[in-house]
Amino acid sequence: MTSYDVIILGAGAAGLMAAIEAGKRGRSVLLLDHAKAAGEKIRISGGGRCNFTNLHTAPANFLSQNPRFCVSALKRYTQRDFIGLVESHGIAYHEKTLGQLFCDGSSKQIVGLLLEECSRAGVELRVRTRVGRVERLDDGFSVAVERDEARDKFICHSLVIATGGPSIPKMGATGFGYDLARKFGMKVVEPSAALVPLTFDETTLRKLKHLAGVSLDAVVSCGKTSFAEALLFTHRGLSGPAILQISSYWHPGREISVDLLPQRDAFAILKQARSERPKQELKSILSELLPRRLALHIVESLEEEETPGAFGRMADLSDKKLRRVAVAVKDWRIMPQGTEGFRTAEVTLGGVDTNELSSKTFEAKKVPGLYFIGEVIDVTGHLGGFNFQWAWASGFAAGQYV
Ligand code: FDA
Repeated sequence: MTSYDVIILGAGAAGLMAAIEAGKRGRSVLLLDHAKAAGEKIRISGGGRCNFTNLHTAPANFLSQNPRFCVSALKRYTQRDFIGLVESHGIAYHEKTLGQLFCDGSSKQIVGLLLEECSRAGVELRVRTRVGRVERLDDGFSVAVERDEARDKFICHSLVIATGGPSIPKMGATGFGYDLARKFGMKVVEPSAALVPLTFDETTLRKLKHLAGVSLDAVVSCGKTSFAEALLFTHRGLSGPAILQISSYWHPGREISVDLLPQRDAFAILKQARSERPKQELKSILSELLPRRLALHIVESLEEEETPGAFGRMADLSDKKLRRVAVAVKDWRIMPQGTEGFRTAEVTLGGVDTNELSSKTFEAKKVPGLYFIGEVIDVTGHLGGFNFQWAWASGFAAGQYV
């Protein structure tokens, strides 16, 4: 049986980072993954350009049952540190919007950077390797693996679980990390899909299906949380950055509210239009403010509640009616039925309970030598490069102690 100082399960963003840091400290490191290549989610991320961090990363960008858990690691390895690494490899990048940094070229450059650093640090990487039984020994762990038909067993002092969450199973995502945590008596916060499109029930879908493809800037709110970004109507519900963001805060049975005309006073605009262009139809005025299909839909919905033609010429619309139109535009209420689930979710909400781990070392309090990093933990970032920054920061932290 070959022995290593450190075995890391999962060669994604967090596992690669932890492997590099542990290797740099002179540890012998074996990095295992069942996928055909390391960093597959990095490769497909950010539309192929990898939104590798966010200039404005702060603890407020993360959800967790313990919002303070992420603070220490994010301070010890910041967005500036990762940007420095990217620059040291000569990878060109740009800020797309809201502090989101993307490669100018391809996300493969980030995978290449990590693999090069791994190789410099002497990390042994084995992909296409299925992980079997993990056992606790007196002084470490044994890990049974299978590759092609060959079986093997390795032992290590420190075992790092970096197997991510179950989002996008067809990419090799599994709930392996949760099962292992439970096996060692650790609590797991119920995982659910996050950064995911929302879906409508049949009745709502029938009414809104013709809007599929319409997109606009909006402010989407759920309770006290709001996001101002783009919104997209789909064939099954709503998507776009504003919806993905709010999905992390939405629970079944809750309504979301959408401001379709952010930062503008719809009532004042409508009143002005009535006095300046009384002969125009409401639908023409609304079409100047919103995508035409959406404007027509709003007028039709209002008329359905009253009578056909009730929201026609501007001159015929009372202040009361204009207020109703303004509310339909500024506070559109919708009750999603569900989400598209793990099939398309970018991340997982929940995971290994942070109370089980040290926020300094990421070692399990009950199981010395066992570490959890990255998405497998109950720490979930907003959309915009925050999830990778968490993977880098938690991987870096654990890499200093394994
Ligand atoms: P990650 O999922 O990256 O790695 C886990 C690894 O473990 C995988 O390689 C997997 O094969 C392996 N594994 C799982 N089970 C195993 C088992 N049983 N045995 C062996 N190996 C196993 N974030 C961001 O900040 N910017 C972005 O642009 C994007 N874009 C994006 C697009 C899409 C389509 C998705 C799905 C996700 C994103 N994300 C993102 C989120 C980001 O990809 C995610 O938060 C990180 O990859 C999490 O890193 P981890 O290393 O924790 O898990």
